[in-house]
Amino acid sequence: MQKIVDEIASQMASKTDKGIVASYIPQLACVDPKQFAISVALPDGSVYSAGCASTLFSIQSISKVFTLTLALGKLGERVWNRVGREPSGDPFNSIVQLEHEHGKPRNPFVNAGAIAIADAIIQGHQPKEILAEILQFVRYLADDESIAIDEKVARSEELTGDRNASLAHFMASFGLFQNPVDAVLGTYFHHCSIAMNTIQLATAGLFLANNGHNPITGYRVVSSDRAKRINSLMLMCGHYDGSGEFAFRVGLPGKSGVGGGILAIAPGKASIAVWSPGLDTIGNSKLGTQALELLTQKTGWSVFGQ
Ligand code: DON
Repeated sequence: MQKIVDEIASQMASKTDKGIVASYIPQLACVDPKQFAISVALPDGSVYSAGCASTLFSIQSISKVFTLTLALGKLGERVWNRVGREPSGDPFNSIVQLEHEHGKPRNPFVNAGAIAIADAIIQGHQPKEILAEILQFVRYLADDESIAIDEKVARSEELTGDRNASLAHFMASFGLFQNPVDAVLGTYFHHCSIAMNTIQLATAGLFLANNGHNPITGYRVVSSDRAKRINSLMLMCGHYDGSGEFAFRVGLPGKSGVGGGILAIAPGKASIAVWSPGLDTIGNSKLGTQALELLTQKTGWSVFGQ
């Protein structure tokens, strides 16, 4: 495995087109696009890495996997009253489907869906309290107490978050919100701004590769049935309108973030985190996707066969 990740990192280093760093959140535009990291966490607890695997990056939409997991724990099946579970075929920040579908987002991974999930998990608490709970959950999954929110990124998102604010107010106009829109948005912006490295992220995803059980901490995080369902949502919706292309090229459940990270799950085999800040036109990491494509070619780990 070490040889495989080293080979992938050296191939990625030689690529000239590394994609374009997100700039609609100004703080993300400051990141050096030449960076690449990969970590592969195996169910026996070992982690193999190459590239800058201890460099922190903004996990952005990958955090939506963790808030969905928390929401399922708190609300169970009632989560599906708030969001659907169908691919959207639209960009992550699209508003068009919301009107036709009466303010109920297609799935928990488009921005509108993750904002609805943030509302659902606040449950009358202060945003600070729920953020502490989200952060504690991520630290527990990664078995690393050092994980924190990057306040500069959160502030940057807040200052430029007109589109997300529009989505939130539009949903609230259908009477669907239980909390003030500002509290929901504050929670959402801050959980997107959690900073992690690929070692922490691959470890945090391990429960999804291991039937809901985290082999490093020894704790069961979710039932095997729930892990299977979260993986299926990642496969169908984790890359927005690029989900079909990601399934075609990589063939694994995956969740991307505009910080350039991707968490991919090879059920029963591994949890993989890649990071390279340059994005493709849809907003998913360009080299990250190429690296995962190479990894599944080398390992035969695609869920669709070798
Ligand atoms: O709300 C946003 O636009 C960002 N905080 C998250 C979007 C994102 O990561 C889309 N993923 N590729």
